[in-house]
Amino acid sequence: MNLVDQPDPPKVAGGEAERQTELIRLRYRDDMAADGPWNEVIATILSHRSVRAFLPTKLPAGTLERLVAAASAASTSSNLQTWSVVAIEDQARKDRLAILGAEQKFISQCPLFLVWCVDHSRLHLAGAERQMTLGGLDYLEPFMVGVVDAALAAQNAAIAAESLGLGFVYIGAMRNRPEDVAAELGLPSGVMGLFGMCVGYADPTRPADIKVRLPQNAVLHREQYHADSMPEVIAAYDPRLVEFQREQAMRETPWTKLATERVKDIEALRGRDRMRQALNNLGFPIR
Ligand SMILES: Cc1cc2nc3c(=O)[nH]c(=O)nc-3n(C[C@H](O)[C@H](O)[C@H](O)COP(=O)(O)O)c2cc1C
Repeated sequence: MNLVDQPDPPKVAGGEAERQTELIRLRYRDDMAADGPWNEVIATILSHRSVRAFLPTKLPAGTLERLVAAASAASTSSNLQTWSVVAIEDQARKDRLAILGAEQKFISQCPLFLVWCVDHSRLHLAGAERQMTLGGLDYLEPFMVGVVDAALAAQNAAIAAESLGLGFVYIGAMRNRPEDVAAELGLPSGVMGLFGMCVGYADPTRPADIKVRLPQNAVLHREQYHADSMPEVIAAYDPRLVEFQREQAMRETPWTKLATERVKDIEALRGRDRMRQALNNLGFPIR
């Protein structure tokens, strides 16, 4: 249920069984059976679509704290809790972050912009307190721990937001200029902005729809990984994504083209090929 009088996300017609069938159909657009355990949590998760157009409506008091409580409830490797989040509501700061984030205007438009961070600074503080240098932090593994922790925390907050009738979109473009983002947010050494998240009420005049995913036989492997059928499975997904794009009046690009273009060469990384250098500059001397 929404906390304020906002339009609910588009509902599938009919009763619960029809809703379940429709949400599974839209998620895969194949012959996947819809039966299985079902409840409101699963319905919320399966209704996800990224929102890139927001109303200016402010979020109800306490929403940010509730989202962060959901984030804090996520599992965390060894209880290290190597993540932090910076919440930005100041318009001028959102505008500057939009520039750093590939000029994506929804960063300026959303009422709440969150930057989810890998955070080793508390470990450094604890080490200093105990007069230890913590040489283990110079390796890739603890950075990966922070990435996993931050992503799990963020996704918990994301689902909580959607359950409250809010929409969101992640912003990976926060990694285009990591040092500039760190300076804008006043991040101490050992903290890195991993990705952003625009949060707010979706503009009902610009609705987004459920984007079809790879079929389950692409991502689910029973007992052992099955690579043999993968070429056909991927080929079958291409036209389903194109069908979705056509319905949304988006440029029609098969997934195999979209995905390979994103990683085809160093230019395709749009400056992020220097990530190791950026991390070193931000206090992660990863070897
Ligand atoms: C870590 C991450 C970073 C993302 N960065 C951006 C971004 O910078 N801009 C954007 O419009 N969408 C971004 N997205 C959203 C994805 O494009 C989107 O989740 C994907 O296309 C699937 O669509 P859906 O979320 O509507 O199902 C990002 C998603 C993730 C998980």
